[in-house]
Amino acid sequence: MAEIDALLEELAEFVQRFETILATIETTKDLLEVKEQVHAPTAPLATISRAMRQVAPEDRPRVGSRLHDARARLDAALEDAEQRVGELELSARLAAEHDDIANYLYPGRLHGTGALHLITQTRMILEDLFTSMGFIVAEGPEVETEFHNFEALNIPKFHPARANQDSFYLNYGERESTLLRTHTSPVQIRLMQSSKPPIYAIVPGRVYRRDTPDARHTPAFHQLEALVVDRGITFAHLKATIEAFTSAYFGPGIQARLRPAYFPFTEPSAEFEITCTICRGEGCRTCSGTGWIELGGSGMVHPNVFAHVGIDPEVYSGFAFGFGIDRLAQMKVALKDMRILPENDLRVLAQMRGVL
Ligand code: DAH
Repeated sequence: MAEIDALLEELAEFVQRFETILATIETTKDLLEVKEQVHAPTAPLATISRAMRQVAPEDRPRVGSRLHDARARLDAALEDAEQRVGELELSARLAAEHDDIANYLYPGRLHGTGALHLITQTRMILEDLFTSMGFIVAEGPEVETEFHNFEALNIPKFHPARANQDSFYLNYGERESTLLRTHTSPVQIRLMQSSKPPIYAIVPGRVYRRDTPDARHTPAFHQLEALVVDRGITFAHLKATIEAFTSAYFGPGIQARLRPAYFPFTEPSAEFEITCTICRGEGCRTCSGTGWIELGGSGMVHPNVFAHVGIDPEVYSGFAFGFGIDRLAQMKVALKDMRILPENDLRVLAQMRGVL
């Protein structure tokens, strides 16, 4: 009787000890070893089964049921351990096999590295060009005030450029007081408000217009604005700067020319054109047979603009110009349709590596 109780005590301890061990086992080898110990002929499971015949009949049900429970618990623990070890070993094997395949496949192969977007490449080239001429690179907000985007640039109320079929006004502040900037020119105002001449700055950035997308327009595109304010700045400086950057960007054989035009914030104003890069000046469909393609606007900073920012036009003069970065990139790579630029189609993006 006492002997039986001692055995049952031993059994309980045995079960607890092996449940703990089994819960932490990680390899098949360890698992097999433990299994052997659990089922060893000298272990309590076996010794008690063998002792059953000597157990008094009235004690048998109790001992039998304890034995049954112990076996069930150990079997469950063994099964759990087996499943866990199986999973661990499978994932280790898959990882090892993956490494093998990777080692076999990759050496000597090109990895698919990304590429900078065509617009980013163009912007970076332009920034390099202009900084090498002594310009700084500035930025301004894409959400602008009506004052910076229009008023201070001498674009009067009721000017067609302000019409809301052209601009994206925002539901913020007073009616039509904030909008997505329609050009980078408002940053001219911010530059002149925040710094004193001499100013030699370019401003690359995204702009927005309510244009219907077509081969040459997207509603969000990029411009680069240039502003120079100093003593003694003349139209000749403007022309030379435009010539310098266009020939540096497009290479020999592409010329720039100015044509009289009107912009409210410059006087006199000029549009600038470059030799058509498709036909190199011969005349083709892209340039409507003229041999020239319009690139942007330019001019001498209007006295009214200086007045808005408190710069004395008797002391200082300045020039400004602005053009579309997307258009410039389009002409460099002879892109037929601008709409692919914001779409991020991988087949297109993959061709952008080192394209410029
Ligand atoms: N902001 C004008 C536009 O988006 C382009 C422009 C014209 C910029 C003349 C200038 C300039 O700086 O002087 O159409």
